[in-house]
Amino acid sequence: MKVISTVKDLRETIREAGLCPVGLVPTMGALHSGHISLVINAMNQCPLVVVSIYVNPTQFNDKDDLRNYPRTPDEDKAFLGRYLRAGDILFVPGDEEIYPTPVRKEYNFGNLDNVMEALHRPGHFNGVAMVVNRLFEIVQPDFAFFGQKDFQQLAVIRELALRAGGRPAIVGNPIVRESDGLAMSSRNRLLGPEIRRNAGIIYMTISSASGMWKNRGVDEIREFVRSAIEGVPGFSVEYFEIADDVELKPVSSRSETVKGRKYYGCIAVKAGNIRLIDNIEFPL
Ligand code: PAF
Repeated sequence: MKVISTVKDLRETIREAGLCPVGLVPTMGALHSGHISLVINAMNQCPLVVVSIYVNPTQFNDKDDLRNYPRTPDEDKAFLGRYLRAGDILFVPGDEEIYPTPVRKEYNFGNLDNVMEALHRPGHFNGVAMVVNRLFEIVQPDFAFFGQKDFQQLAVIRELALRAGGRPAIVGNPIVRESDGLAMSSRNRLLGPEIRRNAGIIYMTISSASGMWKNRGVDEIREFVRSAIEGVPGFSVEYFEIADDVELKPVSSRSETVKGRKYYGCIAVKAGNIRLIDNIEFPL
């Protein structure tokens, strides 16, 4: 694995390697097995893989969240070193490489940026789009790999790539879970021990809720989810919505569902003072 921190060196190394297709796995570090599943998927499809680690300030709407975001550069490097091939690249740019000029781009993703996460994290997806677009510009990948845990982020990035002419192809990877069902996330390491012990309630609840979808209304399901999760001390539900995977339109009843689309129960939970998200398919 080569570790590179400047755009110039990265471009040169990619050009010299002359390999195609190039796969990009953008991350913010504090790596876990979910990230490794993205890396392995990328390596299976691409002879050259670039993994980026950059904690992107423009996607944090809360300064404390940015300050407290876990940063484990040495562990990350050692962890990736166990998987990446000799020619693959770990890209660790500084702010000056990602944002050489302080110009803020404004995107309009319509409904994708008007529901669920967007209502609770204003400006978040604009920041995600800025950094992902910049990484696409720098790496010029053929494929880019993202986790399905960030359901809404994945839809926004698919739209971003579509607007750029469909390149790179966006690959969504299934959620990787801990043994109690908790979706793997860099933020899990910030959970206190008691909260962590109980955090399996999130997946357990949304799994049960997906089984209720055949014969129960959305309000009843939402009430079930809220009371099951909020029954555990320290847990509160920020939102729970059932939305399709294209427009991300939350539905208030099954009759609003559109044939041919997939529906997902999407949740954000405050677990202690850490915000966790998860989702699961609600089959029609
Ligand atoms: O999902 C993440 O880790 C980040 O939002 C991403 C896509 C790397 C952009 O900073």
